[in-house]
Amino acid sequence: MDKIQVRHSEPDDASAIRDIYACKNAYSGTLQLPNPSGKGWADRMANVPANVYSFVAEMNGEVVGNLGFEVCSNARRRHAGSFGMGVKDDYQGKGVGSALLTSLIDLTDNWLNIMRLELTVYTDNHSAIALYEKFGFVIEGESKAFAFRNGQYVNVYHMARLNILT
Ligand SMILES: CC(C)(COP(=O)(O)OP(=O)(O)OC[C@H]1O[C@@H](n2cnc3c(N)ncnc32)[C@H](O)[C@@H]1OP(=O)(O)O)[C@@H](O)C(=O)NCCC(=O)NCCS
Repeated sequence: MDKIQVRHSEPDDASAIRDIYACKNAYSGTLQLPNPSGKGWADRMANVPANVYSFVAEMNGEVVGNLGFEVCSNARRRHAGSFGMGVKDDYQGKGVGSALLTSLIDLTDNWLNIMRLELTVYTDNHSAIALYEKFGFVIEGESKAFAFRNGQYVNVYHMARLNILT
């Protein structure tokens, strides 16, 4: 079985992260756009704010997954944070997303004392919903026409995991 290694991302990972979100499933399942800009990702990875934690997952030395987690900066919401993630299309279904989420939950439960993890996911993204449910997330609600994707409005579920409940 291929070894998956998760580590914090570095500015030099920008072009590999760009390549993840250049994949059709990866940009369609997130809020990214086709043909992502290399400079856009270079600027983003060179200026990661202090309340943002960005991880990459490597498989056989290749960066194949990314997860970005943002702790809410509002003083009364510092117990909460949200994240987005993507895995290169050819590497989906091989445990990369699970490895990234395992690392995130270790960080948020055991080190950052984040009580509430939240995210949005398209209601037809069954593999992502299954992944999140496997890690204890539950669907809290639905927003209609939340985003525009390939010519159509799409709904999202709001999902959350409260570490006091797991
Ligand atoms: C969603 C995504 C991050 C999951 O990452 P992944 O590496 O494919 O996930 P894993 O291989 O770790 O699978 C995790 C779980 O997802 C579920 N799953 C994976 N592929 C599935 C599929 N084709 N159908 C249904 N469930 C699936 C399973 O529950 C699986 O757990 P199991 O293997 O223990 O049964 C990845 O598919 C992806 O990047 N998709 C495109 C972008 C996206 O949708 N991002 C999420 C936005 S909210």
